[in-house]
Amino acid sequence: MKSIDTLIEQRYSPNHFAEKPVSQDHLHQLFEAARHAPSSYNEQPWRFIYATHDQPEAYRQLLYCINESNRTWAQQAPILMLSVAKKHFSKNEKPNRHAWHDTGTAVGFLLLKATELDLYSHQMAGFFPDKAREVLDIPDEYDPVAMIAIGYLGKEERPNKPRKAVSEFAFSGTWPK
Ligand SMILES: Cc1cc2nc3c(=O)[nH]c(=O)nc-3n(C[C@H](O)[C@H](O)[C@H](O)COP(=O)(O)O)c2cc1C
Repeated sequence: MKSIDTLIEQRYSPNHFAEKPVSQDHLHQLFEAARHAPSSYNEQPWRFIYATHDQPEAYRQLLYCINESNRTWAQQAPILMLSVAKKHFSKNEKPNRHAWHDTGTAVGFLLLKATELDLYSHQMAGFFPDKAREVLDIPDEYDPVAMIAIGYLGKEERPNKPRKAVSEFAFSGTWPK
């Protein structure tokens, strides 16, 4: 079993995916990981609409919602999925201010599980939420959040993505002066 440090280190967002399909069992394991993510009041506001290359019509619909520059590489990925957030709490219909936050957490769990399975993922803000809502029949009380391409690595080309120093985002006590 890979350590959490290995998973964090191994993960990156590739622009090339292999043709190799992903098994239904692996796909299920991804959602099983998302299922166990924490959420405000345990609302679990995340939803996923997904399609594989084996579902050409459904896959094409998801692809159609992705902008052109992302589509060029995303269409190689054997799995496309859209994360969706439920905007209000089910128990009282009050706005859930943390719906996107919790959806992102669930995606984080899913991505780390993907990494354990040697799968790679590339998330996209570059898609058309209104088109997705229409084409994929997403109800008004849900927000399309992010598109995600998932598959095995096509070619290794880890780009240099500089990270902030911890001191730039972690503040002890109060906001820095
Ligand atoms: C919510 C979200 C939206 C993103 N949107 C895009 C996108 O539209 N196109 C793209 O090429 N990469 C996109 N990315 C990938 C980021 O650019 C990438 O995660 C970041 O540069 C860090 O690189 P790494 O994931 O390889 O570590 C997105 C990532 C996230 C989390």
